[in-house]
Amino acid sequence: MNISNSGHSVDIVEVTKTFANVTAVHKVSLNIRKGEFMTLLGPSGCGKTTLLNMVAGFETQTSGAIQIDGKDISDVPPYMRETGMVFQSYALFPHMNVFDNIAFGLRMRKLPAREIKAEVERALDMMKLSGMEGRRVRQLSGGQQQRIALARAIVIRPKVLLLDEPLSALDKNLRLQMQVELKELHQKTGLTTIFVTHDQGEALSLSDRVVVMSRGEVQQVSAPIELYTQPANGFVASFIGEINALPKARCQKSGQDFRFEVCPEISLNGRQPARQELKDGQMVHIFIRPEHIEIAGPRHNGANIVKGNVAAHIYQGTHTQTRVNVPGIGLVELRTKGAAAIDQAPLGSEIALSVPLDEAVILPA
Ligand SMILES: Nc1ncnc2c1ncn2[C@@H]1O[C@H](COP(=O)(O)OP(=O)(O)OP(=O)(O)O)[C@@H](O)[C@H]1O
Ligand SMILES: [Mg+2]
Repeated sequence: MNISNSGHSVDIVEVTKTFANVTAVHKVSLNIRKGEFMTLLGPSGCGKTTLLNMVAGFETQTSGAIQIDGKDISDVPPYMRETGMVFQSYALFPHMNVFDNIAFGLRMRKLPAREIKAEVERALDMMKLSGMEGRRVRQLSGGQQQRIALARAIVIRPKVLLLDEPLSALDKNLRLQMQVELKELHQKTGLTTIFVTHDQGEALSLSDRVVVMSRGEVQQVSAPIELYTQPANGFVASFIGEINALPKARCQKSGQDFRFEVCPEISLNGRQPARQELKDGQMVHIFIRPEHIEIAGPRHNGANIVKGNVAAHIYQGTHTQTRVNVPGIGLVELRTKGAAAIDQAPLGSEIALSVPLDEAVILPA
């Protein structure tokens, strides 16, 4: 079933938004492709809602342009932009029933009653709400209200779907279920979607590409896997997933051999990072994920072994997060499968860690 008006692109060109004395969005340029699921991800206050509101037309940019299918829509009022929006708070009409909530946008557009009924039924069906038309919004659960907000956004056959943290009010299980439904909705409709979240797991699992924002600026635009494995800078490395940031290290390069001196006692062997040309003597930041560090067995005598004392185990079912105090580095987190580490490395004991840099992120300092 194709309910959508699919296949529209959005271009955000050098857009800046300044409120009195706050620059909420600073020179942001993005190209959202036809049918793409694009996520804006970043901490609270980084400008996600402001950017979405400018696409919807609820805010006007201070400078720059917003285009749909290459046409500037800066002067088009919100109700004529053909964008469907789900707000950070669902913003349903509490005094209306489900049908009337969903039908609202169609009535504003003065569609004939028969057409409204058919379109609302289609949206109800798509959001698995059939049979609930007569219910009062107040009597529904958070997840059901969320589906109504989504139905209300898609019923107008928008060119672009704008979703501002639509799942943030839901508990974890419902949230996971709604993530699957959102993904199905996107696959069914092919709607170009701009999704806002500050939950990185949600961003990685749903998106074709993710825009990481900080303080009104774009830090990186990448597909999820690239974002996780090749963060462009320290902010992205630390914001996406967990990562150990080692103290600044000096790169010692001779031919193809790279050593990184983290402190006088610790040097780690590595190789030329994928995207950076490092020079001998250059200072770098090394980031390494907890799942890439291992407890080294007694027979392990290779390179990149560091010693430290076990400070904590945090058992999490599928894995254990272990915190080790390494002199010269500080606290290092590692993640191992199951509960084996708890017996293998008792609290307070000295253990050896293997710290390979093959999958580390190495950035110029
Ligand atoms: N109408 C406004 N007047 C003044 N400042 C505003 C206004 N709206 C937003 N701001 C400021 O702009 C910045 C960005 O706000 P925005 O709501 O876009 O952030 P956000 O990324 O959506 O955050 P959150 O994750 O908390 O929803 C903040 O510093 C905020 O205080
Ligand atoms: Mg917001």
